[in-house]
Amino acid sequence: MTASGLVRFGHQSDSPIDTIMTPTSLDFYEALAEYYRLIFEDWDRSIERQAGILNPLIVKDTGRCSVNLLDCACGIGTQAIGFAQGGHSVVACDSSLAAVNRAKREARKRDLDISFFVSNMTSLGEIPRRDFNVVAALDNALSHLTPSQVRKAVRAIGSKLEPHGLFIASIRDYDNLILQRPTVQGPVFYREGGERRIGCLVGPLTVF
Ligand SMILES: C[S@@+](CC[C@H](N)C(=O)[O-])C[C@H]1O[C@@H](n2cnc3c(N)ncnc32)[C@H](O)[C@@H]1O
Repeated sequence: MTASGLVRFGHQSDSPIDTIMTPTSLDFYEALAEYYRLIFEDWDRSIERQAGILNPLIVKDTGRCSVNLLDCACGIGTQAIGFAQGGHSVVACDSSLAAVNRAKREARKRDLDISFFVSNMTSLGEIPRRDFNVVAALDNALSHLTPSQVRKAVRAIGSKLEPHGLFIASIRDYDNLILQRPTVQGPVFYREGGERRIGCLVGPLTVF
């Protein structure tokens, strides 16, 4: 998600550059949780599309049709829901309580049995199990972390994986974006249930 990916605030900061930026990414996602799905033209279709890519990758890389999976930056459930619908046993967490609450509601609506926790991926202290076949952090979640937080997250994630478990993450190539400075996307128009939404990137966007 472009806008959120470019916002890098000082949540649990330990670097000088972060401490001068407010609000935190946690504030950002707390406020966004109830609207997050509107970023997508059709959130359900995005869940399905992403699951259609991720689930076969997991099956191919683990050699299992069904895995124990921890989504450690689940947000409102965009991937966790698709993983559960794909037959995986899913535990999902995020540092945003509002996002986790929304994800719980969405999972319940779809009759999916997902265990949810509020947890920071730099510690994952609230997650009791340590035998996951797969841990996921998808759609730019890692870009919110400082380099030392990334190191902590890698250790925490490693501690939750079985030996030779799989970690999957997706992140935009910001170094390349800074170099290329691509044209910012113009307004996009969505229609849903008789309503019309206009999505617009507002600037200036700063890439750190
Ligand atoms: C761009 S959203 C993606 C969410 C979800 N994967 C999706 O695609 O809908 C990034 C998520 O990372 C979460 N996040 C950021 N820093 C985190 C941290 N240190 N620990 C856990 N979650 C974090 C945010 O709360 C947010 O829900």
